[in-house]
Amino acid sequence: MVSSKYLACLVFSVTLNLLFIVNIYVGDQWKLSWTTRAALEAERVAATYCSGHGRAYLDGLVADGNQPVCSCNTCFTGPDCSRFIPRCAADADSGNPLFLEPFWMQHLASSALVVPGWHQMGYTYDDRTYVSKELEKLVRRVHSTVGNAVTENRFIIFGAGSTQILNAAVFALSAENTSSTARVVSSVPYYPVDQEQTEYFSSTKFKFEGDAYTWRNRSDASSTNMIEFITSPNNPDGQLKEAILHGPNVKTIYDRAYYWPHFTPIPAPADEDVTVFTLSKLTGHAGTRLGWAVIKDETVFKRMMIHMRLNSMGISKDAQLRAFRLLKTVLEEGTEIFDFAYRTMQSRWERLVRTISSSDRFSLPENNPRYCTFYNKVRKLSPDIAFCSLKLVHECPDPSFRSRAYAWLKCEREEDKDCYAVLKAANIISRRGNLFGSEDRYVRLNSDTGTWGINQFAAAIHALQALIALGLYLDAFRMPMDDKFLQSANGDPLFLDHFWMQHSASSALVVPGWHQISYTYDDSTFISKELEKLIHKVHATVGNAVTEKRFIVFGAGSTQLLSAAVFALSLENPRRIASLFRKTILNTALFTTKSDNFPQMSHSVVLVSYTDVPILRVGVVATYIVIRHRYNLSICPPSEGAIGFILYISKMLDLNNLMVMAAYAWLKCEREEDKDCYAVLKAANIIGCRGKLIGAENRCVRLSLIRTEDDFDMNVHISLPLPFEHVTSIASENFI
Ligand SMILES: Cc1ncc(COP(=O)(O)O)c(C=O)c1O
Repeated sequence: MVSSKYLACLVFSVTLNLLFIVNIYVGDQWKLSWTTRAALEAERVAATYCSGHGRAYLDGLVADGNQPVCSCNTCFTGPDCSRFIPRCAADADSGNPLFLEPFWMQHLASSALVVPGWHQMGYTYDDRTYVSKELEKLVRRVHSTVGNAVTENRFIIFGAGSTQILNAAVFALSAENTSSTARVVSSVPYYPVDQEQTEYFSSTKFKFEGDAYTWRNRSDASSTNMIEFITSPNNPDGQLKEAILHGPNVKTIYDRAYYWPHFTPIPAPADEDVTVFTLSKLTGHAGTRLGWAVIKDETVFKRMMIHMRLNSMGISKDAQLRAFRLLKTVLEEGTEIFDFAYRTMQSRWERLVRTISSSDRFSLPENNPRYCTFYNKVRKLSPDIAFCSLKLVHECPDPSFRSRAYAWLKCEREEDKDCYAVLKAANIISRRGNLFGSEDRYVRLNSDTGTWGINQFAAAIHALQALIALGLYLDAFRMPMDDKFLQSANGDPLFLDHFWMQHSASSALVVPGWHQISYTYDDSTFISKELEKLIHKVHATVGNAVTEKRFIVFGAGSTQLLSAAVFALSLENPRRIASLFRKTILNTALFTTKSDNFPQMSHSVVLVSYTDVPILRVGVVATYIVIRHRYNLSICPPSEGAIGFILYISKMLDLNNLMVMAAYAWLKCEREEDKDCYAVLKAANIIGCRGKLIGAENRCVRLSLIRTEDDFDMNVHISLPLPFEHVTSIASENFI
């Protein structure tokens, strides 16, 4: 009896202890509710077998609920990417930093991120800036840890990749007075985008004028505003470039995309007026599209901020969240990512240099040795010394090694003037020297492209080796925001927050650190085919746009698309364009190009903003902006001289029964004396958007109805004491 009681006590005690222990270790998992589906989905995708020559991603799975499908590396095909495509060309052209993907596969847990559907839906953070203060702090910490940039007492601006930032810098540095056109230069060989972007956006403010060296001793250079791009380390040749031009009228933009210890020695922290960095080449996440600039001067910073706001109205908060998670992992792992990246680049360079140096037909440029403060070593970037063993870089006995992202190759033979063609004949795709402002004896080979790149890189090396072996070719180879654009005037669609809170489980997403880090998808496009299909489906379901046999362009918000549309239409069609809304007017004024004369539009462009698309299930169909020639439906007409206006239409689900539930209320002050309706409302503590800013008269004010419930309550509550006849709310039916 005693023993059975004792036994029962013992069993009870052991069970209780077990429950405690289990609760301590897996208790949190038991509490998982809405993240479970997303977590299982992410793990299923990560576990999909693609033979080591491809990777399954979440995109298709999320879009259709399908089984994960392998996305194969170049030259591989088949359901599991195991089939090699014979005679496939070795692509050493693109600068996709996929070589870091294996690092993120090794850091699955620390880099994974759960993004709930309700996460940071608004345009801005609660301090009304577009950039997370936490991300900014982390970026400063990364620079101080690596020692590659001074960030104290400096401004930091973020953008959709450094590509957007570089262009914003040119706008900001060119004189406000458009009578003096800034000359934009870069020393040869230069990063081709410097030329391409400047020429594309060429305006009365600035013009691309080629090689900086040709302007060195010219007298007219000292009398005009000069802007010099300095890519350091340089793409393509890896040199730590310095400014060629000097003087009071020379402004510089330092592109330091590769100023990280895995690509170059870091002799000293960068401390220039405008220094641009990117997540793409630091963590490899080119697909996240996040770059930043460290800026000394507040005026330049403010001008760049205006550019960024008008160009894309902020930076993807999903991208910011992901960048935050990734940079945190970088800091938590000490020097690990740099060591990993360095080893990878180093081993590729060793193989390349070994191959090239076995002939005299090709050559690589010499680089001077520099002391690297990050690794406390002198590092030399010289093609003749590259054979440090594959130990951890900081243990490497021979400090003279190289690890650059690109090889700048020169064809040495007299007859090989077209080096691109020489390599092409050997099935190696490179990038022509003339794209870098250089001669065609040079080509750029890329060595930083991923697991995919390992195959590609290996293929390139093999091809080079074959050339040599055959003797065929080689003997030889924050933001001080302008308040009037925010507050109630801001169209933050936060009213949908509750919907996403209710649908947490179905909308949450687990984003692994390795997910889609490339610039492009496997079909070399910037846009997921699955996303495009889904957009077609949404429009077909809602019935709000014909999308069959139409091209779809995606952008960083519709703000960027509007500007792109003006560019595209004005370049081709010399007649007058139809409509402008406030931002387009500002955009256009800012980005005015020589050929941009607002031609009349012969066809209409429909822009649908993702951020303003309410949810079918809450009863409102898409809010969309239609830009159409002479489509005058507004009660507040556009002011004289303005060419168009905005039409906000919302429809109820019943498509036959059109009823407007507009995202904005378009108010008109009816009293003779209330010419400034904005001021009338402001006096009542309601901040709207002035009619004049939208091309209408100032008797009209726009109020946003799509912000939070609290904001809306405040507006309604505050407006109640206003005398009824004071403000006429324009009823929805007046819109149609
Ligand atoms: C020198 C240089 N600057 C900028 C970029 C663009 O980087 P991001 O991905 O940040 O736009 C690249 C990309 O290859 C580059 O080589």
